[in-house]
Amino acid sequence: MRLRKKPWIEKAMPEVIEAGFLYREHIERFKGRWQERFPGKEICLEIGCGKGGFITGMAALHPEKAFIGIETQFDISYYPARKAMEAGMDNMVILNGDAAYMEDWFAPGEIKTLYLNFSDPWPKAKQAKRRLTHRNFLGLYLKLLGVGGRLFFKTDNRKLFDFSVDEFKEFGLEIHGLSYDLHHSSYRNEVQTEYEKKFSGMGTPINYCEVVFTENSGKVVTRSPRNIRPEESPS
Ligand SMILES: C[S@@+](CC[C@H](N)C(=O)[O-])C[C@H]1O[C@@H](n2cnc3c(N)ncnc32)[C@H](O)[C@@H]1O
Repeated sequence: MRLRKKPWIEKAMPEVIEAGFLYREHIERFKGRWQERFPGKEICLEIGCGKGGFITGMAALHPEKAFIGIETQFDISYYPARKAMEAGMDNMVILNGDAAYMEDWFAPGEIKTLYLNFSDPWPKAKQAKRRLTHRNFLGLYLKLLGVGGRLFFKTDNRKLFDFSVDEFKEFGLEIHGLSYDLHHSSYRNEVQTEYEKKFSGMGTPINYCEVVFTENSGKVVTRSPRNIRPEESPS
């Protein structure tokens, strides 16, 4: 998802930041302290939340949980933050940054559930390490979610899906659910994302996988996903 630069967003941004719905700077101040920010609520994370249809929908359906969205593009991160502000949500916040740095923002075990929805495919082989389901990212997620942590993945992109399921297996994740056509399956799909509506509206089946981190996860060699050279385009 790429947006043409919208100068008005820069002007509107301070309002959502001051209201506490979007964090851009010094996010590390919350590391190990998310329970203070959202007392008594289980923390769920979406990486690459885009305009926020999914995360705001989930936050509205589950007031007993807290939802944190990470979005790397500055302009796009404004939209979910504004949605949360307008709805007066007290269980949602957006972080504007690259998920490769999330170890700076969360302590081990702070996150229970992770959603990856329609992640950028990075189709070239040399871009594989940028995929959010690459084993280097799985290693990072294992550190932060720990054993028992759950990851839910949806995508229209079959090649990315096949790559991801292979990575999940290689990494030793337990597969608890898998469908090549989520919308015609018995799996629960509480909220559709913007991309999901677009692709399913065009007749593209949606792939779905749910995995759990176990004692057997993470036995393969991984490296930190940080400091990858910027590439031209994710798709
Ligand atoms: C294809 S869009 C999907 C948006 C939304 N999840 C949906 O399904 O409608 C992928 C989004 O992930 C964001 N993204 C990609 N890599 C990221 C990263 N490393 N950290 C945070 N956000 C990322 C992109 O900026 C983009 O907005």
